[in-house]
Amino acid sequence: MNSGINGMTDKPIEITMVASEMFPFAKSGGLGDVIGALPLALGRMGHKVCVYLPAYRSVVRKYAPGSPVRIPGVFSGARYDIFSLEHEGVSVRLVAADDLFDRAGFYGDARGAFPDNAERFARFARGALSHMEGESAHPSVIHCHDWQSALIPSLLKYRRADDEKWSGVSTVFSIHNLAYQGRFHPDEFAHTCLPDEAMGVEGLEFYGDVNFMKGGILFSDVFSTVSERYAQEMLTAEQGEGLEGVVVLRKESLFGIMNGIDDAVWNPESDPHIPAPFSSAHPEAKAECKAALQAELGLDAGAEGPLCVVVSRLAHQKGIDLVLETMDELMGLGVSLAVLGTGDEDLEKGLAEAASAYRGRVAFVPAYDEALSHRMYAGGDVLLMPSRYEPSGLNQLYAMRYGALPYVRRVGGLADSVISSPTPEADSDTGFHFDAFAAADFLAGVKGICRVFLDQGLWRMMMRNAMEKNSGWDGVAPRYVELYEKAMRPQPR
Ligand code: ADP
Ligand code: GLC
Repeated sequence: MNSGINGMTDKPIEITMVASEMFPFAKSGGLGDVIGALPLALGRMGHKVCVYLPAYRSVVRKYAPGSPVRIPGVFSGARYDIFSLEHEGVSVRLVAADDLFDRAGFYGDARGAFPDNAERFARFARGALSHMEGESAHPSVIHCHDWQSALIPSLLKYRRADDEKWSGVSTVFSIHNLAYQGRFHPDEFAHTCLPDEAMGVEGLEFYGDVNFMKGGILFSDVFSTVSERYAQEMLTAEQGEGLEGVVVLRKESLFGIMNGIDDAVWNPESDPHIPAPFSSAHPEAKAECKAALQAELGLDAGAEGPLCVVVSRLAHQKGIDLVLETMDELMGLGVSLAVLGTGDEDLEKGLAEAASAYRGRVAFVPAYDEALSHRMYAGGDVLLMPSRYEPSGLNQLYAMRYGALPYVRRVGGLADSVISSPTPEADSDTGFHFDAFAAADFLAGVKGICRVFLDQGLWRMMMRNAMEKNSGWDGVAPRYVELYEKAMRPQPR
């Protein structure tokens, strides 16, 4: 690794990221957090970083300064408007394409996913590359994230052949969730502006459809995902979401790097969203945060068991149905529950019913609320994360930082980041695991947690371990630099 004194590099790399979310501009989940922090950490190391985002209406209204620059598309006659801003040492470019992003919502609305998403994100990728083409210098590495920017490696594969300037540009593709692939009807392939041959079995064709993510995996120089364990899981039929064969083909170029957290935003000592600051050395005020959260959500302060919190998209992935299924038993164990999240109608309905059946013991806030999410981690004793699969997960990292012990299914990044021994170890454990996605296994774990909760000495030691775990992005960013260096060397094909 080429880092010199204070983590500053002596060989700066020009890195361009292309992604569909970046906190604080646009965030619907963990991808927004990652792109909100990794580029800044790379910038602090001395690398030159630029991020391309879609010019969503909400972002343009709140952040875009002045008028955009109009540029020609290089893949078709389309035109793009590019807004530019600077954010904490990182250049941000917003790509506007006709009215494709000038609407409420990033990917969809109450009726579901937008029907023109193939066009929207094909135009986003083409627009970003068209803008890079007009710049005086090309980046050394383009780092794309998830299906929304996955066309870039495919577009570049052909661009490199036409235009020598692109031959020295390497691509890295990061998968944050293999389940969302950008799979569309084959007619949508026309929006990619790729040659017909790219729609073959050795290209983007996938069971007759076009699959943007498949191209990202096949044509990037190296690709990665957000934990080592998920990198292994992606190779299997159980977790490979149908793409495991493609992932296996390129497994020599696959890397797993666990996500970090932005410890400037997620720090209980200086968090403006929580009622009282606390730290691992002085955790006393966490009790005040818990009492305030109970009062805010109408929960009884007298429950003898731990206060369990959930902050989550209410999607199948997250396994919240297991919480609903075991609700009566959970209440029997004396725990209380606070859930913040939106998503599947059935889950929202079930949680609302539980909140009215167990008034004072269960609270459900069907909203997306960044500030409340901070108060939930600060006030909770336990974070529940019974995910069916979890590429990385950030919630458990935030929870640990705020002394809420995560209770997680032993999969993906949850297995890699939460330390749990068969008998709780005061010196090392930071949370609790369970294995099988089954009510009995989940409940057995909660019973164990309730027992440990009675031993406040042990509980406080575990809280200290969790809070002192160092998960900042400054420790993670150098691993991405190693990845970029790999991408810049010729890869085995
Ligand atoms: P995913 O990206 O799969 O949703 P992660 O654990 O990586 O899961 O990241 C989720 C992020 O979204 C975290 O920052 C979490 O705090 C946030 N989040 C999820 N739901 C909500 C909500 N309803 N309100 C506020 N923040 C939320
Ligand atoms: C995805 C995954 C989540 C991960 C996030 C950021 O949304 O579901 O596990 O933390 O991306 O990488």
